[in-house]
Amino acid sequence: MSVMTVQSLTLKIDGKDVSCQAGQTILEVAREHDIEIPTLCWLDGLTLWGGCRLCVVEVAGSPKLFAACGTACAEGMEVTTNSERLQKYRKTIVEMLFSERNHVCAVCVSNGHCELQSMAQKLGVNHVHLPYRYPKLTVDSSNDRFRLDHNRCILCTRCVRVCGEIEGAHTKDVKGRGINSQIINDLDQPWGESETCTGCAKCVHVCPTGALTERGTAVAEMNKKRQFLPYLTLMRENDK
Ligand code: FES
Repeated sequence: MSVMTVQSLTLKIDGKDVSCQAGQTILEVAREHDIEIPTLCWLDGLTLWGGCRLCVVEVAGSPKLFAACGTACAEGMEVTTNSERLQKYRKTIVEMLFSERNHVCAVCVSNGHCELQSMAQKLGVNHVHLPYRYPKLTVDSSNDRFRLDHNRCILCTRCVRVCGEIEGAHTKDVKGRGINSQIINDLDQPWGESETCTGCAKCVHVCPTGALTERGTAVAEMNKKRQFLPYLTLMRENDK
């Protein structure tokens, strides 16, 4: 009988010696050692998306930046998770997200409970130096219980992944490309007409912004229920 042995690795994160198992990502190992790396699209228990790039880190010997959520650790790696350069990139990413759609926090139901807003505060983004695009986007209020506001979507795809991977409904998807991408329900039908949506609300509660909300909530009233998040990994395990 052959016994599989998992190779263990040693590396440095922010000058600290850490060890991990082969296959673990920089983000996983950093979090295990209480080293904070900002993230928006990543959510423990869902598959990797790697779209927001807020988790970028530096690896000694390479001029490139690496997404910590999707980069596997390697023996002897020296990772820097915070530097002036990284702060500049992260601030620019958040500014781009704000300028790309219509995030008007003052009139948003998620004001005060929004991950994009708190990220901006944490990174010290107090101005958007890029021109706002002000795209003309719609709000889908066709569902009796939920609302999809494309103006506030950052395309993190957490809703798509939780719907497919945890709920198994596969109602949500992304249409279009690049800056014109949009979250859709079924084959781009109004959410209220979806035959696959189970009404579980998982998409609403994993959404980091005010893009997916419960109807009937007024400005700053939408507090996402995150209690089930620690069980996402478990739900997937049970599904195997
Ligand atoms: Fe790594 Fe979004 S958290 S790319």
